[in-house]
Amino acid sequence: MLLKKKIMNKVTIDPAKSILAFYAGQSIFLTGATGFLGKVFIEKVLRSCPDVREIFLLIRPAKGLDVNQRFEKMLNLPLFDKLREERPSSFKKLIPISGNVSDKVLGLSDENKQMLIDRVTIIIHGAASVKFNDSLKYAILNNTRSTRDICILAQNMKNVVALVYVSTAFTNVNKPFVEEKVYSPIVNWKKMIDMAESLDEHTLNVFMAKFLDYAPNTYIFSKNLAESIIQEYSFSLPCAIVRPSIVMSSIREPFPGWIDNYYGPISLYIGGGKGAIRVAYLNTSCHSNFVPVDIVVKAMLVVCWKLGLTTFTKDSNLFVLNCVIERRTTHRYDIDVFRSMLDEIPLDGTIWNNKSIYTTNFILFYILTMLLHVMPATLIDRILMCFGRRPMAIRLVRLLYVVSCVTYYFSSNNWEYSNINKSFLTSLIPPEEQKMFSFDYSAYDMKEYFKNFMIGGKKFLLYEDLNRLDAARVRQKRVHLLSTVTENIIFLGVLWVIYKWIYIYL
Ligand SMILES: NC(=O)c1ccc[n+]([C@@H]2O[C@H](COP(=O)([O-])OP(=O)(O)OC[C@H]3O[C@@H](n4cnc5c(N)ncnc54)[C@H](OP(=O)(O)O)[C@@H]3O)[C@@H](O)[C@H]2O)c1
Repeated sequence: MLLKKKIMNKVTIDPAKSILAFYAGQSIFLTGATGFLGKVFIEKVLRSCPDVREIFLLIRPAKGLDVNQRFEKMLNLPLFDKLREERPSSFKKLIPISGNVSDKVLGLSDENKQMLIDRVTIIIHGAASVKFNDSLKYAILNNTRSTRDICILAQNMKNVVALVYVSTAFTNVNKPFVEEKVYSPIVNWKKMIDMAESLDEHTLNVFMAKFLDYAPNTYIFSKNLAESIIQEYSFSLPCAIVRPSIVMSSIREPFPGWIDNYYGPISLYIGGGKGAIRVAYLNTSCHSNFVPVDIVVKAMLVVCWKLGLTTFTKDSNLFVLNCVIERRTTHRYDIDVFRSMLDEIPLDGTIWNNKSIYTTNFILFYILTMLLHVMPATLIDRILMCFGRRPMAIRLVRLLYVVSCVTYYFSSNNWEYSNINKSFLTSLIPPEEQKMFSFDYSAYDMKEYFKNFMIGGKKFLLYEDLNRLDAARVRQKRVHLLSTVTENIIFLGVLWVIYKWIYIYL
């Protein structure tokens, strides 16, 4: 039945319409434009779809910068270097508009709202707070109510052909096998929005304890409800949901290794690589669950194309795409590959060897955190203070601890995902456009990917000089030797004390 429905969908697609032809003349409205995913989306559209008409970017003022300043700053990123070289005039197609999705009607001025209503044909809703520990009130207003407001806005648009909602692969954590459909919501989204609007934070936090039986944090909860909103509006709008797992550095476009955030396992890899992480709360035998950012972007573009070329009726099915890498490896495998790469591409400023202890036992994790993180950090901060420098080690250690605790749920569970829609969609891409838009990377080389991730991480996250690899390698070797010798001396010392203790008292 499912297969029949898909084949019917396939027939309604006009085979003469290539992806490039489809994007010609389209006006895209993108929320989350300044985010990791949003920026790569902008770059890809401008580079690969040269005839797109315009892209409206919803941006909020932040960190003392107004919308235009943020926009200019964003365009100066190395991410856009290739585009600057190949299509410098394409930047004119970007139109920043001020808004804040946690405000009512997305914080749009009447003028901007009308402009969007008149011109937009494709909506990509990617704005969300991805923090796991937001208050319930903020998560609902920012991530759930904004999705409803996007749908209401879309209903007023005369020419909208596609609305793609960027969800997450973890919205249904209670399902060991996640199908490409929207499951029953945890609670009624309308009631939840009403509650978030009318109750104060304290009262809402009382409810949170109840809801968090079904979702590990407020982020997942708010995204789960947002999927139900899309499901409901899909009867009147051509909607789709794309569900990426943890989004990591680019595999190929615009160049391998682009990364500008520390989400997911990235902080673990970098902190571990520098020797700062001695203990991690992680089940190494569980699957790692990441997907390169450019794969997600290509998937979003192909989903829009599919929606745009499918005749929309109120009986059309909501299209849901699980955007995960099929070739799954374990955390242990990834950590080993990453560590083996450190000889070739060492990180600057290594402070200890990169051997960490991984545990799934919270009490052990807590004790080891005290011994191996908090105690040395306290000492380091004291030394820094003696030299008149600002203490920072304890702050880092606390951050690491919080990150470990909030991500444990995801690093210690396994989920399997249906990929029927992925195979279906990739088979629709015209052969001559496969290279540009296919998001099937099942045969990618994991080692090569990690190597590029490390180069990208060094350049764009840590701002390290890639011409200083030799010096970094020498330091890494020395530090590893010194730390291993020190650890062995301490180990032998402890053994000696135990031996003496047994000798004296027994
Ligand atoms: N990163 C992942 O691993 C991952 C995995 C699965 C799904 N996703 C989903 O992918 C989407 C994009 O995530 P990302 O990785 O690009 O995260 P990100 O780098 O944190 O970007 C989030 C974007 O949303 C914007 N935003 C948040 N609250 C806003 C508000 N109140 N008003 C206006 N803009 C607001 C942010 O703007 P500012 O720059 O002003 O903060 C930023 O542009 C999200 O919907 C997320 O749930 C991400």
